[in-house]
Amino acid sequence: MAILAVENICKSFGGLQVLKGVTLEAEEGQITGLVGPNGSGKTTLLSTIFGLTKPDEGSVKFRGQTITGLPPHRVYEAGLAFSFQLPRLITQLTVLDNMILAARDQVGAGFSGALFLRRRWRRQETELAQKAMSILELLGLVHLALHPAGELSGGQRKLLEIGRALMSDPVMMLLDEPAAGVNPVLGRKIYQKLRTLRDQGLSFLIIEHKLEILLDFADRIYLMDFGQIVLSGAPKEVIENPVFYATYVGETKDAAFSS
Ligand SMILES: Nc1ncnc2c1ncn2[C@@H]1O[C@H](COP(=O)(O)OP(=O)(O)OP(=O)(O)O)[C@@H](O)[C@H]1O
Ligand SMILES: [Mg+2]
Repeated sequence: MAILAVENICKSFGGLQVLKGVTLEAEEGQITGLVGPNGSGKTTLLSTIFGLTKPDEGSVKFRGQTITGLPPHRVYEAGLAFSFQLPRLITQLTVLDNMILAARDQVGAGFSGALFLRRRWRRQETELAQKAMSILELLGLVHLALHPAGELSGGQRKLLEIGRALMSDPVMMLLDEPAAGVNPVLGRKIYQKLRTLRDQGLSFLIIEHKLEILLDFADRIYLMDFGQIVLSGAPKEVIENPVFYATYVGETKDAAFSS
């Protein structure tokens, strides 16, 4: 069953039509990949799904509910989390604090120090810390919990960003190039973690330029070109289709396979 259904999304910036009627579905419990050349509209599509960009036309349904045009915090509350291309961490704070901060908005924000609420607040903080530690363990970051986030490598920061998104107990995650800027070995490690999460029932829609990694982990791939989906299917079907290569004509094989 499709957990996310995007239908006929159109978006222009000024005179430039960036999305020209995009329709795609992501199945529950699967990793759905979104690929395509630079500037083809992938990030704009994710940003539209998450409510950061308003579409001119079209609809987005998540778990059967129309979420088109809802503000990001409402989309997030519905169970959809978005992890940004560039990690947005507070580098002076510890890894654990960054995790807890990601969840604070959900519970603690209103507890302005009233004495009778302190105990409850403290209990919630302890629960959040426990939850954060179990996510860090799953991501292989537990040994860094008390280190400043600024000490993490690029790949570890990406994992921490994913961990922060997991603090909201999402049912689906939108990721924009989780393996960008990290070496291929770490890139694969990141995807192994994502696969573990998928096996636990989480659904993903992932933009990725590192096709040689994505194709090994995705259940289904959509190929975007000039604001339209031009091909979709299982990874093997997609890379055997001449349309796939035609889309990347002009880019070298290296650009297509390891940007
Ligand atoms: N806020 C905006 N205002 C004007 N133009 C924009 C805006 N956001 C994106 N664009 C344009 O829309 C087009 C698609 O951009 P988008 O970032 O969605 O592509 P992409 O497929 O994610 O590319 P990349 O693979 O390089 O990340 C580009 O031409 C970009 O310049
Ligand atoms: Mg992009």
